[in-house]
Amino acid sequence: MRWMRAAGRGLLVVMVVLTGYAASGVTPAGRVPDGGRGPMTLATAGDLTGYLGRVLDGWNRARPDERVTLVELPDSADETRSQMITDLRSGAGRFDVLNIDVAWTSEFAAAGWIAPVDRERFPLGSFLPPVVDTATYDGRLYAVPYVTNAGMLFYRKDVLDRAGERPPRTWAELERQARTLAPAHGLDGYAGQFLPYEGLTVNAAEAVYSAGGTILGDEGERVTVDSAAARAGIGFLARGVRDGWIPREALAYTEEESRQAFQDGGLLFLRNWPYAWAGASGTGSRVAGRFGAVPLPGPHGPGTSVLGGSNLAVSSHARHPESARDLIAYLTSERVQRRVLTEGALPPVRAALYGDPALVRRFPYLPALRSSVLAAAPRPKSPHYEQVSLAVQAVLHDAMAQRQAPEAAVGRLAGELAAIARRR
Ligand code: GLC
Repeated sequence: MRWMRAAGRGLLVVMVVLTGYAASGVTPAGRVPDGGRGPMTLATAGDLTGYLGRVLDGWNRARPDERVTLVELPDSADETRSQMITDLRSGAGRFDVLNIDVAWTSEFAAAGWIAPVDRERFPLGSFLPPVVDTATYDGRLYAVPYVTNAGMLFYRKDVLDRAGERPPRTWAELERQARTLAPAHGLDGYAGQFLPYEGLTVNAAEAVYSAGGTILGDEGERVTVDSAAARAGIGFLARGVRDGWIPREALAYTEEESRQAFQDGGLLFLRNWPYAWAGASGTGSRVAGRFGAVPLPGPHGPGTSVLGGSNLAVSSHARHPESARDLIAYLTSERVQRRVLTEGALPPVRAALYGDPALVRRFPYLPALRSSVLAAAPRPKSPHYEQVSLAVQAVLHDAMAQRQAPEAAVGRLAGELAAIARRR
């Protein structure tokens, strides 16, 4: 509903602007006699922490002639992607600036939906190094990093402290504590995002990467998933459901349901993005002040997170590309990046903020997050990324729901990925 209202507003702005163009003599090619400056829309997935409107108010007050209207699409990455693509394909051009998931840059760039941006114009050297890569395709910059992300393990500090235990660094420790401590305290053991959607692809990739495996090699031409490491990763998650330390409800969790379960006090461990820290510390939470967050564990020591986050891109059909680029410069400025963290609870891309003592006092997970981002691995690269992601989700969900043994599931995934790779 929220997005429909927002989209309705966006549409209205587009109509008003188009009427304005007709009066001011726009050329059929869409070139405008205003130096590329004027109002625009910014499309984004659901603003889960509700901060972006305030940030854009600052811009709108300073630049009333280049007003930006926020178009909020659904919370789920998959639904947002398909709505953006429907718009971009139709050429309707409802969206001028797009806040795209890091996983989509290649696809949007290859399809010609987003325009390359000039590297010189943005302070890429002040960003955390891995984020710039996610905005690059074929050697060119197609977007500007805006928010980064790495999965972390949230744990109930009160419960571990009482048992004289430390947060787990390995899967074996996590499994033991989830099996023994959780039920003793009336809790479920562990959850992540296990509904079949992009979040499950992330959880699957993290399990495989943490065990030392990979999913695809090169640019998606080589299938590398058929390995002992992948079987160990998928096996770990499937065993959790089989042995009851991952609750069955978690098979339907996205980020929000899993955050809710943790902050309602029902879980000992949660894999989630750092935004969950804010909700779990808030007034509606039953675990405020009683939890912590550490890097994800792996089979023999620290695991590997998938690199998440989003980049800002200018649509190839943007009505006012100059204003669009200035807006991106504003949103990636140090001042706004600080608000991305303090008001949006999202990990900024500006490296300096991670070492700011006042911020570290307020967000104690920042140092752990910084190392998780620096060590994070991208999702498998493929020109058919969506199909790859769908195959990974379906297979892991079957293994977790005990419909297929992990060994057979990994073999099936290898076969499906090979078929997708042949489609090029
Ligand atoms: C978060 C991440 C994004 C990922 C999504 C999956 O929004 O930042 O990269 O694709 O979660 O649900």
